Amino acid sequence: MSVPAFLEARRSIRAFSADRVPRAALTTMIEAACIAPAPHHSRPWRWVVINSVNAKQRLANGMGDHWRIDLERDGLSAARIEELVAKSHVKIMTAPSIILGCLTWNGLDSYPDEIRQRAEFGMALLSLGAAVENLMVCAADLGYASCWVAAPIFCPDTARDSLSLPVDWRPHAMVCVGKADPAYIGRPRPPIPLDELVTFLD
Ligand SMILES: Cc1cc2nc3c(=O)[nH]c(=O)nc-3n(C[C@H](O)[C@H](O)[C@H](O)COP(=O)(O)O)c2cc1C
Repeated sequence: MSVPAFLEARRSIRAFSADRVPRAALTTMIEAACIAPAPHHSRPWRWVVINSVNAKQRLANGMGDHWRIDLERDGLSAARIEELVAKSHVKIMTAPSIILGCLTWNGLDSYPDEIRQRAEFGMALLSLGAAVENLMVCAADLGYASCWVAAPIFCPDTARDSLSLPVDWRPHAMVCVGKADPAYIGRPRPPIPLDELVTFLD
């Protein structure tokens, strides 16, 4: 038996051609995301599709300023900080579309204690991961490249406010989507060391 080809086909691709992604394709990707498993039959996600240069710029500037402060605290040199922030800015600006996956508390349970409240949030976050995987697998199936970018999970409030999103939306996943730059060469996928990763309790 082997892993299905449609799963193998999804790779993280970090360079795109300038072609726009049609709205119908973006909508289909989000529909695919929305059939992911989620706790209590909820859909604790909101999806923001960013196509305009202006919105990309606001997001890149907001998250860039936030990251600059974090990197200064880490003690990096000013030159290195500017290099990293500029690279991240380019990543956002050169993606034809950015899909921002946000968490909401909509449909989730609330608990009076911190431990269960945190577990509930963890469930929502897990479901967002499942939804993003569906989205990216669907993108690949439609012939689009994508790459998940971690940035907003480090600064959800900044990402939200830079786009003037509702206060109860927490951006946690960012996916760049577009047609792959034909010149992009990805890393080969490493082999899967099943012996290390799996325990069968037969
Ligand atoms: C939560 C998460 C965050 C990620 N963040 C980044 C990122 O910030 N930049 C990036 O280039 N890739 C990012 N990736 C993509 C991984 O590097 C990539 O999935 C991994 O190297 C495996 O490669 P593949 O997706 O081509 O199979 C992220 C993946 C996940 C799941």
